[in-house]
Amino acid sequence: MSDEIVRVGVIGGGIWGNYHLMAAKELEAQGKVDLAAVSTRTEKSAARQSKAFGIKGYTDYKAMIEKEKLDAVTIATPDHLHREMSIYAMEQGKHVLVEKPMDLTTSGCQAMVNLAEKNQLLLQVDFHKRYDPNNIDARNRVRAGNIGDLQYAYAYMEDKIIVPSEWLAGWAAHSSPFWFIGVHKYDIVRWITGREAISVLAYGRKGMLKEMGIDTYDSVSAFILMDGGMTCTIDVNWILPKQFEAVVNQGLRLIGSKGIIEIDAQDRGLRYCLKSDGNQTPNFSAIFAEETVFGWKSVKGYFVDPIKNFLLNVRFLKSGGSLDRLSGRYPSGHDGLKVTRVAEAVERSMREGNVVFL
Ligand SMILES: NC(=O)c1ccc[n+]([C@@H]2O[C@H](COP(=O)([O-])OP(=O)(O)OC[C@H]3O[C@@H](n4cnc5c(N)ncnc54)[C@H](O)[C@@H]3O)[C@@H](O)[C@H]2O)c1
Repeated sequence: MSDEIVRVGVIGGGIWGNYHLMAAKELEAQGKVDLAAVSTRTEKSAARQSKAFGIKGYTDYKAMIEKEKLDAVTIATPDHLHREMSIYAMEQGKHVLVEKPMDLTTSGCQAMVNLAEKNQLLLQVDFHKRYDPNNIDARNRVRAGNIGDLQYAYAYMEDKIIVPSEWLAGWAAHSSPFWFIGVHKYDIVRWITGREAISVLAYGRKGMLKEMGIDTYDSVSAFILMDGGMTCTIDVNWILPKQFEAVVNQGLRLIGSKGIIEIDAQDRGLRYCLKSDGNQTPNFSAIFAEETVFGWKSVKGYFVDPIKNFLLNVRFLKSGGSLDRLSGRYPSGHDGLKVTRVAEAVERSMREGNVVFL
């Protein structure tokens, strides 16, 4: 196979778009990617990221796609923009990595999947928990039958209140703890167990954030009946005190007839105490390595791995590989659709106070 270089543009240069840019920059240093441009909402942020990464900056993502002769785009914009941007990019023949949640509607996800299939394009969704070695190990054991007949799963994920109130201040009211982090947990349970939801009963609480002028849920608890009789409970919130020792607190428990698997993804063994921050157990897997690439610190960890994986998948396709060969080896549009279907059911159950059957 020839050594093809993937030309990519990033749409969205905020907190997560920054990781997209860093991952692409790292592969550029290895001669595998050409990071061409970034597109953001304002001239100011486009100029900032353009200067920081030494690339072109746009405020019109369509112009970026039209002018830059890209093979692929990665999309890290607020959730409600994912669909229109993905569809436009795929209409222009570009492979797409889209952040989670893929779209806020099942019908939107279906339109995206249909277009990817029609145009024979890679549509990948950034469910990065699948790249966490602990989750990969759990999946191997569950799939090998080590813990027997699955009884129930329990997953939790909790963010500090700075996430909705400061980091996502412009759009947190359009999201919820389930849309923002619950989708990760539902995807990882279905990926590990191979089971899908049959029904959902969910309850959400509003209060703290609403009082701060952000009309969204503080916390959501969802009880999901999965096929084969297994149940899955997911508790999520984004109101942990700002003094908490990490941005995220998260874990997973899987119980079967022959055993139990517990993942404490909050405490991964690294701990420090600083006068500035107090006790810290940094756990969200962004390690900035000492080596630099073009002056950039190389970034390691499970939350940049899927971005690199997408770019290498596009490289595989450019080198003559087929979508069929990649099938099942990355979080696909079909996965994104199944997760959105459950997140929609969670919303509906909270609104109506009923069990929602899928
Ligand atoms: N995979 C993960 O674990 C993870 C973590 C955090 C965020 N995310 C997802 O990433 C996405 C972005 O989140 P974030 O935290 O970076 O948000 P953010 O608010 O920090 O950044 C949003 C970016 O989108 C850009 N944008 C907005 N409208 C645009 C437009 N019309 N054209 C081009 N750019 C536009 C903004 O300029 C900004 O750069 C969300 O979908 C979020 O759910 C995923």
